Amino acid sequence: MCNACKGKYYITTPIYYPSAKLHIGHSYCTVATDTMARYKRLQGYDVMFLTGTDEHGQKIEDKAKGAGVTPQQFVDDIVLGEGGVKDLWKLMNISYDRFIRTTDDYHVAAIQKIFKKMYENGDIYKGTYKGKYCKPCESFWTESQLKDGKCPDCGGEVQDAEEEAYFFRLSKYASRVRDLLVNTDFLEPRSRVNEMVNNFIDPGLEDLCVSRTSFSWGVPVDFDPGHVVYVWIDALFNYMTALGFENDKYDDLEKFWPADVHFVGKEIVRFHSIIWPAMLMSLNLPLPKKVYGHGWLLLDGGKMSKSKGNVVDPYLLAQRFGVDALRFFLLRSFPFGSDGNFSNELLISTINTDLANDLGNLVSRTVAMAQKYFGEHLPAQQQADEEKDAELIAMVSGLRGKYEEQMEKYAFQNALAEVFKVISRANKYIDENAPWVLAKSEEQRPRLARVLYNLLETVRICGGLLSPFMPDTAGEIGKRLGGAPMDWDSLAQWGLLNPEAATVTGAPLFPRIDMEKELAALEEISKPAPAPVEDPLPEPKEEIAFDTFEKVEMTVVKVLTCEKVKKSDKLLKFTLNDGTDTPRQILSGIAKYYQPEELLGKTLVAVTNLAPRKMMGQMSCGMLLSAERGDKLNLVILDDKIPAGSRLV
Ligand code: MSP
Repeated sequence: MCNACKGKYYITTPIYYPSAKLHIGHSYCTVATDTMARYKRLQGYDVMFLTGTDEHGQKIEDKAKGAGVTPQQFVDDIVLGEGGVKDLWKLMNISYDRFIRTTDDYHVAAIQKIFKKMYENGDIYKGTYKGKYCKPCESFWTESQLKDGKCPDCGGEVQDAEEEAYFFRLSKYASRVRDLLVNTDFLEPRSRVNEMVNNFIDPGLEDLCVSRTSFSWGVPVDFDPGHVVYVWIDALFNYMTALGFENDKYDDLEKFWPADVHFVGKEIVRFHSIIWPAMLMSLNLPLPKKVYGHGWLLLDGGKMSKSKGNVVDPYLLAQRFGVDALRFFLLRSFPFGSDGNFSNELLISTINTDLANDLGNLVSRTVAMAQKYFGEHLPAQQQADEEKDAELIAMVSGLRGKYEEQMEKYAFQNALAEVFKVISRANKYIDENAPWVLAKSEEQRPRLARVLYNLLETVRICGGLLSPFMPDTAGEIGKRLGGAPMDWDSLAQWGLLNPEAATVTGAPLFPRIDMEKELAALEEISKPAPAPVEDPLPEPKEEIAFDTFEKVEMTVVKVLTCEKVKKSDKLLKFTLNDGTDTPRQILSGIAKYYQPEELLGKTLVAVTNLAPRKMMGQMSCGMLLSAERGDKLNLVILDDKIPAGSRLV
């Protein structure tokens, strides 16, 4: 048990599709979850914060094919590669305790067991699927669920689908799920309950198609080869397999399940509040305590996507504004349960108003005045407060309670508003008490010390309460106050700051941003890169007879070895398997374009009946085909499935 442990707390984010690099909208939920997790840790809870990636499905399979890599290589790159999901969470200072990938072996094996259990208890059965399928959403729809013939989630085209498939008896649980939504606080905000009941449950819940045979990138149904488990079943159970459900990798299920809250975006509330509890009911498992469906961050009133340019690139935004400012902005500017419109103007004005002017100024003025008038320490003995201090002290002393009330409702914006009311009050307190005037008279020094003490104390408590939102900034504030107490209990108690603790001055926490200049700079950066000027097409060659063309022997070859030719900048020397027993040597002038290692094992095309010739003293028996335009050159690389020795015809 942790010190003064209040119990355990399990919170999750959705697991992300690594089908493309993430944008700032994706960070929204994760930053909110991180803030909640940090808040609960601050309160003294033993927290498990889970995030991860949802790596199966047709979309990923298609994208990998398009990129010419395996699905596993494709997701590995987006999850683990530079600028990928894990890098982004590191950048955003996300303090997750566990990261699950649905391609992890333990998860795959657990999903197979779960699927089988539901099959054995009769809640999964085999039938024929006829309906509509939305590829980007990986969702099946009935005719009646479509909106104007389109996918009700993304508005995209749907296609007819018919195949043998397994079904989950969702209809069997319709009334229990309805009851759960209508009569408990399982799903919040409340408005989402109406959406679910009116749009999905009351029109009639049909059984859900839970397997596919038209692609293979998924968890195989082990008792029926050819079927893979529907990606949402695979994904939803991550919340339990990551704790050790149906696997030996972890052993925290008893401790942390049921989850205290799943934070999810509004478009996936349906899966979390209808399908997820129904499946848990089928397995007689405890339900999560709550699902919270947050709103979307919009761009120009529409859904955000990377294709809208790099204004939504979290790396760019963090680099220009700082991670804490970005985290703060996301939770300060929009109510968590509703949509909010992202704009650079709003981001900059939030930073300038709240962080540079209000918080930043309060911290730097307070510490600077304490140092200017008293050096590092205030006097140990403090005189009593005056009546005019009472309002500030009452506000600060009551702040933790108000903040807590909002945080418990996931009302991050309101919790921050409470803190900033106090910060504004404290800035006003500086002006009312004019320390620079008090400093002029020796007699007023005890009063001056008291005023500064009250300000430092206000900064301590506000800084501590901001720590879940802006961990680095709170740490810096603590340092400037000489390591003041910022634990949860101390944040409800006025007067704990030791006046003799040595304060430290430093650079402004949040320098003011010149709105006009910054907007211009962002606009410049966000301009789409100019379309590359195409090199002119080469002159057409004279026509040849088919007989002439036929004389050219083009053979599929595999690269056995490849190395640079000594003393030549241009030549690479290949030995190639051309399907015969004797390796073929070809020299090719492509050293400028390729590193030898990257070509090993590749399947290429060679002209194999070209008269041999010597280059740099070595024989070259043929020519490798490549495509050239201007100063760009690419070898013709074929699918590895094609055997060496095949002829191009
Ligand atoms: N893989 C599923 C979740 C499975 S959970 C068992 C998924 N992944 S996702 O990558 O598409 O989205 C992850 C989360 O990011 C979702 O909660 C989604 O709502 C959220 N967001 C994506 N774009 C967003 C905004 N523009 N604004 C706020 N959240 C958004 O869904």
